This record gives sequence, structure tokens and C-alpha cells, in this order.
Amino acid sequence: MTIPQILEKMIAFSEGNIHDIDHLIRVWTYTKTIGELEGLEEATQFIAEVAAITHDIACPLCREKYGNTDGKHQEEEGAVLVRKFLKGTGLTEAQIDRVSYLVGHHHTFSNIDGMDYQILIEGDFITNASENGYSEASIRNALDRIIKTDSGKRLVREVFCIKPEEEDGTTVG
Ligand SMILES: [Fe+2]
Repeated sequence: MTIPQILEKMIAFSEGNIHDIDHLIRVWTYTKTIGELEGLEEATQFIAEVAAITHDIACPLCREKYGNTDGKHQEEEGAVLVRKFLKGTGLTEAQIDRVSYLVGHHHTFSNIDGMDYQILIEGDFITNASENGYSEASIRNALDRIIKTDSGKRLVREVFCIKPEEEDGTTVG
């Protein structure tokens, strides 16, 4: 399947939950944009986009089973669910393994082992920060610790109007 076909399949899977659909479209758009601005290889870009589209696949199940969509459960359940979801889409076993790994780690900011992983984290961060109204301090903190690509850093500053800081912490301009 192509990216639009996988996106449509994920929208159908979301069964009219507009919040979930809007979220995954935002994360996909930011992740895709960062990957293309960074000039990622086609194969890595494809994996990152599939992972962005499917990353929160376990949210409905977790709401039902645990009453929330908190971190660890969602990663564990998602890693399993996404394998089932991607069966029959024509992705190779290796591609499905990697997407499953990314879905299973998208709340884990340590040991980020590839650009597909890094830009998924960045796309999800920008989306969560905008949907949940993160404070400027926590966005600046993410710029120091989580957001690593040049395009991701620029986008974060542009979306949230964050001005560059001088070394002593004061705001310029
Ligand atoms: Fe998300």
C-alpha cells in the first residue's frame, strides 16, 4: 500500500473518533514535513510516515482496557496491534518490525536509534504541545533535550513563536 492508502485504512480504523483522526493527521504532516526538509532517504521516510500514521493505534483499546492512554501500556499494546493492522498491506516483515518498534517506543526519549524514530518524536511533540497548550518553558526544554533536527527546531520556534535565547537565558529581539 501507498501512504495515502495506509492513511485511509487508519482513518477507517479510527471509527469516527475525530480527535484521534485529527491527531494522527497532524503528527503525520509534521513528521513528513521534517523528514522531507531533512532530506531523509526514501525508505526511512516511508517508515517514519507509516509510524506517524499508526503511532497511537492502541488509544481506543487502552481507553477501554485501562481507562486512560498513558505511556507504557499504550506502547506495548500498540506494538502488537500495529502488526495486525499492517498485515496484508504489502509491507515487508522488516518494515513491519521497524514500525512496530517505533510505535512501541514513541513515548521513550532515550536511545533514539534512527532518523525515523527522531522525527516521529518531533512530529508528535509539536502536535501534543499545540493540542495541549504546553508552556513556553516546557517547549524551550524540549528544544534543548528532545528536538534534534534543524527543521524540527525551526518548526517548533515557528509554530510557537519561540525567540532564540542568548547564552545567559535572556530573550533576544
Ligand atoms: Fe501521539
